[in-house]
Amino acid sequence: MFKIVKKRELNPTVTEMVIEAPLIAKKAKAGQFIIVRAGADSARIPLTIAHYDREAGTVAIIFQVVGGGTMELNALNEGDCVHDFVGPLGKATEIEGLKNVCVVGGGVGCAIALPVAQALKAQGTHVTGIVGFRNKDLVILEDEFRACCDELIIMSDDGSYGRQGVVTVPLEEKIKAGANFDEVIAIGPLVMMKFVVKTTKPYNIKTVVSMNPIMVDGTGMCGGCRLTVGGKTKFACVDGPDFDGFEVDFDEAMKRGTMYREAEAKDREEECNLLKKEVE
Ligand code: FES
Repeated sequence: MFKIVKKRELNPTVTEMVIEAPLIAKKAKAGQFIIVRAGADSARIPLTIAHYDREAGTVAIIFQVVGGGTMELNALNEGDCVHDFVGPLGKATEIEGLKNVCVVGGGVGCAIALPVAQALKAQGTHVTGIVGFRNKDLVILEDEFRACCDELIIMSDDGSYGRQGVVTVPLEEKIKAGANFDEVIAIGPLVMMKFVVKTTKPYNIKTVVSMNPIMVDGTGMCGGCRLTVGGKTKFACVDGPDFDGFEVDFDEAMKRGTMYREAEAKDREEECNLLKKEVE
């Protein structure tokens, strides 16, 4: 059992939890993930490590409430324990030697983009952050991004915060203005990452994307997280989650992602009914 030492709401649907997990905190690196289960019968949820504190022995996770598993997790409070917390899994983001990087985050993907931006800054890389949200209420981690980015551009779909529009607009502006990025790292919805790649490809700027498909075992055995990268089958849990964006078959990944939407909605409904019954 792993104790929740801190819980905070980052926006109405996104929660941060800090979990006591000294062995994971000791080994964790930016870009790696854990698998958490709220209770013994709960769904397994893969979540990228948002932050770790080796001294305190804690690991922070940030999640959006989208299905039954995340609703169960969100029902826990400080002082409660999660049943399983396994990791660190996957490969760390490769950042060594990078001098000038643009980190692009979208929505809750910003929770994954932040530790990468922080790790880049810590090694002296010039970091340009471009983060996008649907609206002002959904903005998360702004102060944290400001602290680790040399420049931060915030975009919102409806113009209620920062600039109105999608993240690829300032990205292309920066490239055209001669930003000279060694690499672009994009983390967010599949469609956002697909269009970031479309933006950078004509300029041949290496673009790394973080793939977050459905995962079950997290060890390369079940095949649930398979993707096509460069025409070959890869498993996000062991070969990734980072991949060369120019090589990823986004259309296939998006098609696979929609397969689970119906199940998630059903799960959500069942969990709501259960919680309602507990309250009654
Ligand atoms: Fe099962 Fe990756 S989660 S193979």
